[in-house]
Amino acid sequence: MSSERIEAILKEDRVFEPSPEFRAKARLNSIEAYETLYAESLRAPEAFWARVAGELHWFKPWQRVLEWNPPKAQWFLGGQTNLAYNCVDRHLAARGDKTALIFEGEPGDSRTLTYRELHTEVSRFANVLKGLGVQKGDRVTIYLPMTPEAAIAMLACARIGAIHSVVFGGFSASALAERINDAKSTLLITADGGYRRGGVVPLKANADEALADTPTIQKVVVVRRTGQDVPMRGGRDLWYHELMAKAAPDCPAEPLESEDPLFILYTSGSTGKPKGVMHTTGGYMTYVYLTTQYVFDLREEDVYFCTADVGWVTGHSYVVYGPLLNGATTVMYEGAPNWPDAGRIWQVIDKYRVSVLYTAPTAIRAFMKAGDDWPRKADLSSLRLLGSVGEPINPEAWIWYYTVIGQERCPIVDTWWQTETGGIMITTLPGVHAMKPGHAGKPFFGVEPAIVDAQGNLVANPDEGGNLILRRPWPGMLRTVWGDPERFERQYFSQYPGFYFTGDGARRDRDGYYLIVGRVDDVLNVSGHRLGTMEVESALVAHPAVAESAVVGRPDPLKGEGIVAFVTLKTGQTPSEALNQELKAHVVKAIGAIARPDEIRFTDALPKTRSGKIMRRLLRQIAAGETEIKGDTSTLEDRGVVERLKQGQ
Ligand code: PRX
Repeated sequence: MSSERIEAILKEDRVFEPSPEFRAKARLNSIEAYETLYAESLRAPEAFWARVAGELHWFKPWQRVLEWNPPKAQWFLGGQTNLAYNCVDRHLAARGDKTALIFEGEPGDSRTLTYRELHTEVSRFANVLKGLGVQKGDRVTIYLPMTPEAAIAMLACARIGAIHSVVFGGFSASALAERINDAKSTLLITADGGYRRGGVVPLKANADEALADTPTIQKVVVVRRTGQDVPMRGGRDLWYHELMAKAAPDCPAEPLESEDPLFILYTSGSTGKPKGVMHTTGGYMTYVYLTTQYVFDLREEDVYFCTADVGWVTGHSYVVYGPLLNGATTVMYEGAPNWPDAGRIWQVIDKYRVSVLYTAPTAIRAFMKAGDDWPRKADLSSLRLLGSVGEPINPEAWIWYYTVIGQERCPIVDTWWQTETGGIMITTLPGVHAMKPGHAGKPFFGVEPAIVDAQGNLVANPDEGGNLILRRPWPGMLRTVWGDPERFERQYFSQYPGFYFTGDGARRDRDGYYLIVGRVDDVLNVSGHRLGTMEVESALVAHPAVAESAVVGRPDPLKGEGIVAFVTLKTGQTPSEALNQELKAHVVKAIGAIARPDEIRFTDALPKTRSGKIMRRLLRQIAAGETEIKGDTSTLEDRGVVERLKQGQ
């Protein structure tokens, strides 16, 4: 991250207090209350988490709250529970007729499900899964649009102990195949298509392409969403609605061990291959339950809307599991929030009287750019709390969100966390803390962050940056990288032995507020989506014309970070506009549209050290258009290359 960007983030020094009205009604509303609970959560973590877990249903009580042999954490050992039971069945008595899920399709169709209806759908689909031979521990890949079936499929897997692996519908066929093969899934759940920006995402066609190369898949369940014609292969492909019509509506939730795997979710790291982050049942459940409750200050009458796709961790924890664990009403919106116009998201909020909105800075910046008239056309008076997630929020966007959307009435929670952490780790609590735009805030209960230098020494001076680590286990933490326990240990616990390394840089100010600066590894954050530079590089070098490539991020006013790819071509190949376009399309095909490079720069050589390492630091500066290259260049093998790159050759 460039120092200019840090300064831009830091520029706003106003502090905003939650309104007295909000504070008066909040679940937690004083610094003292937070400090007391936080201190207790660190002093007696086992008692703290046992009390929280005890609010949920367990078929069999645990014997030990925590077993911690770094990097292996086990929570609620001996306990048996079921996440789907806690999300659905647990609410039937008191909230059976309450709306659990509101669905709004991009074309404007809508559907609501009460807790009772959701219970029936999930139970039926759990029976469908069983009927197809899916057993506890089997992997099920879900490649669906943002429709209720995505939540139903996830919950049905959780109900029988199958491990779901949701793949974002924007990923390409080859990305889907890679994820299916890594997990060795036996079942794929997809749809004919999904609506996005007025068009149809051809999910089944992508799936068919992926399935040419996925030997473990035995059956494919296809949800009819768009109604377009899709080929159904006999003996393999089955319609969801036909299976559901025949399935029995009763399926008791399976008592599962607390540490039974719940899901795998692939995310990018600093190598070419995405990691299958694995979460387990009891700890994840307890952690997302509590974070949802406190961070969003949820109450019975809330209508809660998180705009994330279920293909990302935010969709898992804060569209589906967290809100349902708390008996809330959660809104699922299918398409692009600014389609057919920039007013769409505000209409959805108006239509359903949404009270809590959780979205990403990229979306906020896009809405800000579209202008204040769009939100003004809608009645946003139902909103009482706003959230931000996925990337640093620049103060300008924060202030716009606060004034135009929240009308200075709604606190903003800027929540820092990761796929690996399962739930929110650093944030202000809405009725407690003053807000500082650009600063995520304070650690959540049970979370002990620290800022360290490269050697692992604590950085004591306020505002001095360093690497962000987490010094103790928390219930929602990942348990391993699927199929690669060594990578799990190497990636997260080797840099600072015994502690979890986040991969993020951060600062802490005098008040103990954390400001997340961004990734310190080779991971990009493009529109809040995490992407590995090596993933994009691997896609590029797989093209026959490409000899070598180096991919770096560059600050982007809308997307946070844009992708710049430096490419050298094989002998006999010449740079051209056609090849430029072809390479971009090639990356989209290999990974998905989110990975499309913003710019491809052809070059005759890449800046390397004498030992052959690409000097990305230089490339980042060149990509950002900096004219003065800072830092040591004495190890460069060919100094001329930097000059040539700067001149765009
Ligand atoms: O760099 C941090 C950034 O997103 C990364 C995690 O990405 P992912 O696993 O895809 O999860 C995103 C949704 C939780 C982090 O390492 N990040 C996430 N939230 C914030 C953030 N950066 C700054 N501020 C945040 N609130």
